[in-house]
Amino acid sequence: MKIRFWPASLSSSLSSIAAVTVILASSVSFSQMSPSSVTFTNNLMPRPASLTATDGGFVLTPEFRAAATHFDDPRLDGAIHRALLQIRQRTGVPLPAKAAPAGTEAQLTLAVQGAGEKIQSIDEDESYSLAVTSSGARIEAATVVGAMHGLETLVQLVQPSGSDYVLPLVSIKDSPRFRWRGLMVDCGRHFEPMDVLKRTIDGMAAVKLNVFHWHLTEDQGFRIESKLYPRLTGIGSNGLFYTQQDAKDLVAYARARGIRVVPEFEMPGHSTAWQVAYPKLASGTPPPAVRTQFGIAPFALDPTREETYQFIARFLGEMATLFPDAYMHIGGDETPAPDWKTNPRILAFMKAHHLKDSPALQAYFNTRVLKILTGLHKHMVGWDEILNPALPKDIVIQSWRGEASLAKGAEQGYQGILSAPYYLDAMKPAATHYLADPLPSSSPLTPEQRKRVLGGEVCMWAEQLDEHTIDSRIWPRTAAIAERFWSPENVTDVDDMYRRLNVVSIQLEGLGLRHLSHEDAALRSLAGTQNIDQLRTFASAFEPVSFHDRYQEQRTSQLTVLNRFVDAVRPDPPSRYRIAKLTQSFLKAPQSDTADQAALNQWFEGVSNSVPAVEQQMKHSPLLAEAQTRAEQLPGLAKTAAEAIHLLSTGAKAPAGWKAGKLSEIETAKKPSAVVRFTFIDPLTSLVNAVQE
Ligand code: ACM
Repeated sequence: MKIRFWPASLSSSLSSIAAVTVILASSVSFSQMSPSSVTFTNNLMPRPASLTATDGGFVLTPEFRAAATHFDDPRLDGAIHRALLQIRQRTGVPLPAKAAPAGTEAQLTLAVQGAGEKIQSIDEDESYSLAVTSSGARIEAATVVGAMHGLETLVQLVQPSGSDYVLPLVSIKDSPRFRWRGLMVDCGRHFEPMDVLKRTIDGMAAVKLNVFHWHLTEDQGFRIESKLYPRLTGIGSNGLFYTQQDAKDLVAYARARGIRVVPEFEMPGHSTAWQVAYPKLASGTPPPAVRTQFGIAPFALDPTREETYQFIARFLGEMATLFPDAYMHIGGDETPAPDWKTNPRILAFMKAHHLKDSPALQAYFNTRVLKILTGLHKHMVGWDEILNPALPKDIVIQSWRGEASLAKGAEQGYQGILSAPYYLDAMKPAATHYLADPLPSSSPLTPEQRKRVLGGEVCMWAEQLDEHTIDSRIWPRTAAIAERFWSPENVTDVDDMYRRLNVVSIQLEGLGLRHLSHEDAALRSLAGTQNIDQLRTFASAFEPVSFHDRYQEQRTSQLTVLNRFVDAVRPDPPSRYRIAKLTQSFLKAPQSDTADQAALNQWFEGVSNSVPAVEQQMKHSPLLAEAQTRAEQLPGLAKTAAEAIHLLSTGAKAPAGWKAGKLSEIETAKKPSAVVRFTFIDPLTSLVNAVQE
């Protein structure tokens, strides 16, 4: 890469408008400063609402300066600084990383009308416009949050051109489709260190998510310090929790990136940790210990005692001093509460209050908690189960059960957030999440009801991840979902999504996320050697099974060490989509499509050839040897693929019984083993089925 320097006399005399005119004219007069040969490659994710591009680009040089036009704001300066650092890192151009003082002549100007709300609300104006011309770039926004989104777009725009890096000439007008674009991280079942959360928030900002939903309490651990009730973490956790200072730091860190923090305190179910710490909160049977096993616990807070509400009021009041957001999440899901059906005191209470069943009792509990939250000037958010006509309409329902449940709430007048299709632990491909729309135009909801759908949230439950694997479970798939929440509904081209996801994924690693690098590190650790070329090839053919399947096969608990082969491989690795696409294309014209045929053969041969070296490594690694059966199956499956491809490309028929034998081999390969699945089973099945006998 070449770095060009502006004439020193010009850069040092930039103090008047006249000088500005000179430098702009000069920059245009150097034709290489605006190479018209630049053709814009749209790698943006999420895609902006509107974009026009013309040929040409603005070359990034060490003289590149960024400044607000008139508005000094520490949050804006911080965002400019981060954007410039990223551009330096991506391009190697040693431009200054600090924002120039507001009003200074600059190649990137930010015209921002105001700081935005002191506490970011769901109505914050997040829109921005961004124009790159041959003389520089300009971002306009009503608020700093909008400007931050513009800066993220600007960073993603940077592309190579010949020996330079340029900003392509574009004009963008952008605003989000949904106001609530969240990511929930469960820090109850496995604690995540602060640096993990901070880099998660960096990734969220890069793809314009705006709500970090912090799941802080679970049966397996109470993770937020209470000074009023110190036993909550003292007894209710394994010693891993966030101090109040941590919480304040994270809220500030997120705010600096235009992200709200919505804390979740689970009640009345998923509350074993509360009750172990303060047994008086229990509905009858106090739980013996914080749970290490997962699943639904048979313990719930006692909704009949005034002391329960006094405790919750004091606790939530304390939490309100840490979490300024207007919303607090009270969980509310999965509360079987056997004591509510058997404890005579609770049954008598229900009779006296005309509460016919457990859902009615939970609705009573929720109305009491809602009163506390209202007193704290907070809105209540809860999972589907809080939906009950006894609750007023200003609560927000987070739907984990599905679109129908979201629609039911909206029809009844409740605001909602869709999460059901965005459960990352289902280990589904990015494309599946991507194509699930929170509010498709085909939805039967009326315009009034549609307004109640605030947006969506990705959910990262933590039964089967830890601080080492969390990045690869969240990223890059969450970037694709972020686009669903931000971009227009008609942005649905899956090929293009995967193309851009590959680019953004690498940029996310540039921010410090480790979703790609983790795989190699974990494979090295499993094999006990740096020599993992073959193991990497082998691993590329696998992905983790779903949460449910892993639980069935492995009976994971909080004590399970998450350092297996399954923890090294990542969901939706490139081979899954690539082999599906190649197969689809090959099957259209198997006798003439030699390119796809060759690519498929090469891939299957490559993964098959990796097996002998991997089997050697398995001899020295009991952990790796857990995938022995998979290593035995892979060459056979690859051979089947080669046979099918050969038969199809020559038009020859298979001997009688061939197909049944191969389909049976595939069925065997679908059976659980090493809690991983082959990424190519569906396309292989299509190949075999396409063969004539
Ligand atoms: C949930 O998945 N139980 C919210």
